[in-house]
Amino acid sequence: MIQSHTSGAAVESRATVFGPASLSNLGPGFDTIGICLTGIGDVVSACLTDRAGVRITRAGYGIPLDPLRNTAGRAASLVLEMAGSSQGIDLAIEKRIPIGSGIGGSAACAAAAAWAANLVLGKLFEHEDLVEAVLEGEAVASGGCQHGDNVLPALFGGVVLTSPVDPTDYRLIEIPRPLSMAILIPRLSILTPEARAILPELVPLRSAVENASDLAFLLHALQSGDFRRAGRYMMRDRLVEPVRARLVTCYNAVRRAALKAGAYGCALTGSGPAMFSVAEDDTDAKAILAVMRSASLEEGIEADGLVTRSSESGVRVVSTEEAIDGRRP
Ligand code: HSE
Repeated sequence: MIQSHTSGAAVESRATVFGPASLSNLGPGFDTIGICLTGIGDVVSACLTDRAGVRITRAGYGIPLDPLRNTAGRAASLVLEMAGSSQGIDLAIEKRIPIGSGIGGSAACAAAAAWAANLVLGKLFEHEDLVEAVLEGEAVASGGCQHGDNVLPALFGGVVLTSPVDPTDYRLIEIPRPLSMAILIPRLSILTPEARAILPELVPLRSAVENASDLAFLLHALQSGDFRRAGRYMMRDRLVEPVRARLVTCYNAVRRAALKAGAYGCALTGSGPAMFSVAEDDTDAKAILAVMRSASLEEGIEADGLVTRSSESGVRVVSTEEAIDGRRP
């Protein structure tokens, strides 16, 4: 919701924006492909002020309030800079995505803050103009490394391909129908910089070639709506997931259980620990989520979960009521 009112000579504007969660990597597509999710995300409210610069008034969960160390703060500061405004923006962050879960919480905040800042500044920019700002915002949570596979799906919605060489080079990929998924969020926290630091510098040529081929086939399967095959390719990463899976002690049990229950594929998302399964429909996804959760518990790891779908919409304005009472936007 965007509200504007005048108080004395100053014009104040406020916007409350939902930034959706997202899945990234999708198996063989490390730093290259991501997908926006429905029903789960963070909410960022922006308020235009006369005090220059960005100030974070609320974040919670020990998230830094320093705008340079906060993905939302950094993204909004860059939008303010792009606008050449001498005014300031106050941000209030409502975290709904568990921190360090692997479903793009830091990206959701960066994208929502950039869009909210843009709105209070008078909607000077289109989504594509904010790519650099959201990438820089997300980089705050990734040890300074830009990768667009969560933040670009959160900004634009849908499935997004982005180049690890130059993340501002991206393509929006159409899929013919929404993808149903079960997402398990084990109660472990894995921070992206740590999960990146354990990855090998060099990998065998054969594995790299096979990964490249599987990513190409995965893309084709997604675009043609063959989600059964897409699920299969999502399980074939040889470079990153095998290393990170060691951090998620329930990984093998969850994967086995999901496949046995009919999942088309099951993999880690982003740096984990969340795991997602691709299902035929929401009913199957619900049954698959139940067995994923039991398998995790049997390994001694409590987990939360949700059934969701790919979403065509990225950041969007939410009403004040939705933002306050925590209803799923
Ligand atoms: N592609 C990034 C990684 C996503 O896997 O490190 C981080 O959530």
